[in-house]
Amino acid sequence: MTGLFITLEGPEGAGKSTNREYLAERLRAEGIEVLLTREPGGTPLAERIREVLLTPGDEQMNPDTELLLVFAARAQHLAEVIRPALARGAVVICDRFTDSTYAYQGGGRGLSLERIATLETFVQGDLRPDLTLVFDLPVEVGMARATARGRLDRFELETRVFFEAVRGAFLKRAEADPARYYLLDAAQPLTHVQQAIDTLLPKLVERVRG
Ligand SMILES: Nc1ncnc2c1ncn2[C@@H]1O[C@H](COP(=O)(O)OP(=O)(O)O)[C@@H](O)[C@H]1O
Ligand SMILES: [Mg+2]
Repeated sequence: MTGLFITLEGPEGAGKSTNREYLAERLRAEGIEVLLTREPGGTPLAERIREVLLTPGDEQMNPDTELLLVFAARAQHLAEVIRPALARGAVVICDRFTDSTYAYQGGGRGLSLERIATLETFVQGDLRPDLTLVFDLPVEVGMARATARGRLDRFELETRVFFEAVRGAFLKRAEADPARYYLLDAAQPLTHVQQAIDTLLPKLVERVRG
């Protein structure tokens, strides 16, 4: 038996964390084991790396350092949490994963996509998400939601140009592989977003039950 690996992607304020609970509840109602997790983080050690990544500081973080820290946390998360859960047949729902690396470190910071792909294979082997929900919305809407939520982290303090590049990178990846990506209009009211998620459920349940 092998589980299903679902990732939720998109910029700050898009509704990933809100809707991961919703999706998890719908699957659990079908009697399916769901493991909810997030990146960067997901294990105590990886959460410590998350703190390093998200806490604003006086010393500028070199983009390569940032990229390596993201993948270091991911290696730990995969080994300790994601791979074991998939091996026992659970559905893993992960709030951000490697698409965020392509979007933030690739699109936002301008790091080479080839380098990211090399690290992706180094850390993940051939493991890729089975389904990726991309929560898309205009940059200013996302930034307004994130700002309303409270104090901004090191990424949320970035510029509009940075977030436009992040958004563009997510959209490009979604367009390149429609079989894996499901694009959601996250600027819609929450009930609409959840209706869009509902349309995915019958197929997901079928895939899990095999
Ligand atoms: N479709 C929506 N319409 C309006 N507000 C939303 C919607 N989805 C989420 N929110 C609100 O926006 C904020 C950010 O949502 P959150 O789920 O934390 O986003 P993310 O995890 O993608 O950064 C929260 O206050 C949430 O209640
Ligand atoms: Mg969130």
